Amino acid sequence: MKRGFLIVIEGIDGAGKTTHARKLVRWLRKKGIQTRYTFEPTRGAIGRILEKMASKRKVDVRVEALLFAADRIDHLNKIIRPLLEKGFIIISDRYVHSSIAYQSITVGDQRWVEELNKFAEKPDLVILLDVDPEIGLGRIKRKRARFERVEILKKVREKYLELAEREGFKVIDANRGVEEVFEDVRSLVEKFLEEKKALQQ
Ligand code: TYD
Repeated sequence: MKRGFLIVIEGIDGAGKTTHARKLVRWLRKKGIQTRYTFEPTRGAIGRILEKMASKRKVDVRVEALLFAADRIDHLNKIIRPLLEKGFIIISDRYVHSSIAYQSITVGDQRWVEELNKFAEKPDLVILLDVDPEIGLGRIKRKRARFERVEILKKVREKYLELAEREGFKVIDANRGVEEVFEDVRSLVEKFLEEKKALQQ
């Protein structure tokens, strides 16, 4: 069977990753393509530890970096690899570049974070939803989590843009309305799948 594709949506908090990932899944399924939505941190055993830590004020950021990397290995083993082997298109709401962007800011050692994550297989396409941190934070209605502060998110955004340049992510201006942004997301994915000959018109 033909291997599927791993498409990742990245961006700072409030960029609209979940909305667009879910819209993308619906659009692909309508086209008759086997697609699965997934996300990090996961709801598995390690993801749940991270969830508990998120509400604490004092967290050792190195422990947190290790847990994000461990959760990712779990995600790869339990969800991503098996589905790729079955030919699914996986839309992941965050993946390895979330760690490189956030943890290299919190820990301050990007190379260490990259080393920890070296077992994460490369995604086929990364879409960066780029939003101004003030606009992103303004969209978050629930109680803010630990990273959701403008000073941190400004640095994380810069890191994402730097990674985008280095690794060739597709960057979309996510300061606009949902439909406008989705139009760009959809057309990017359509082009990607056409190139891979995975889309029958
Ligand atoms: P988020 O996608 O915002 O989850 P939720 O839908 O539960 O709000 O992720 C939670 C936070 O975790 C977010 O602020 C970014 C952070 N994060 C990292 O710092 N490193 C990582 O590797 C991942 C996956 C997330």
